Amino acid sequence: MSQEARPPSGVVDVSIPSVARMYDYYLGGKDNYAVDREACEELSKVVPSTQVLAINNRRFLQRVVRWLAREHGVRQFIDHGSGLPTQDNVHQVAQQVDPASRVVYVDNDPIVLAHGRALLEENTNTAVIQADMRDTDGILNSPEVTRLIDFEQPVAALFVSVLHCIPDADDPAGLIKRVADRLAPGSFLVVCQLVSEDAATRDFVTEFMRVSTQGQWGRVRQAHELAGFLDGLEVLEPGLLEVSTWMPDADIGPKQLTQEWIEFGGVARKS
Ligand SMILES: C[S@@+](CC[C@H](N)C(=O)[O-])C[C@H]1O[C@@H](n2cnc3c(N)ncnc32)[C@H](O)[C@@H]1O
Repeated sequence: MSQEARPPSGVVDVSIPSVARMYDYYLGGKDNYAVDREACEELSKVVPSTQVLAINNRRFLQRVVRWLAREHGVRQFIDHGSGLPTQDNVHQVAQQVDPASRVVYVDNDPIVLAHGRALLEENTNTAVIQADMRDTDGILNSPEVTRLIDFEQPVAALFVSVLHCIPDADDPAGLIKRVADRLAPGSFLVVCQLVSEDAATRDFVTEFMRVSTQGQWGRVRQAHELAGFLDGLEVLEPGLLEVSTWMPDADIGPKQLTQEWIEFGGVARKS
């Protein structure tokens, strides 16, 4: 891991903004503190479309899980950088299709573990672990994963709105490849991250988030860089797109209001 990457501590630090709690605030959640809200307000002065972007991203996550469960029969999901529980979490969407669907949530923010465990107490097909997603072996060999995930069967590994938290020095492409290598043929990798084609926006947000979160951040990238993370995998139709346009529901809500930055991604399959 890069110098700035720290192992998960288990302590909720309310003196610095956290990516999980800022995202929760943008989604209208209540699991955030003044420091998170202030950072969001500052950020939104420069990139005012961020709240819409977050809502669009969450809807993409829900659509893609439903699509994988319904159209591809996926019954196992590992959700890297899962975020705080909100409405229609991955297990709820997947278990609407098949109540036997199994989901492991992985996040390095201790608040996710605290709230996730409370939500999942009654659900034996679901687990949440606090881990840094760069620790592929630690995660895939954990008791929760080995209890719930059958590596002989296809799995969907989700990396939704989280790769921008991984610095280049920690090789996000290598992370995707490591996970793909452990999964059965026919497995899926779902990836999206913050992208901007405007250098000034990329630089500002990358620096703002790196400083405010004290290093829980990687880089806003360009669309072509994400495509490079999926080398060796088959990118499925409709390809890599701004996520609100990836198989949109007929009743899609607010579209991306501006193009300052977008969540860009899609689905790839291991053959
Ligand atoms: C923007 S949220 C996305 C949440 C969810 N995937 C979604 O799209 O709705 C990013 C999440 O990734 C988590 N995260 C960031 N870096 C991480 C890492 N290295 N390992 C595990 N989780 C990480 C953050 O704590 C946060 O909860």
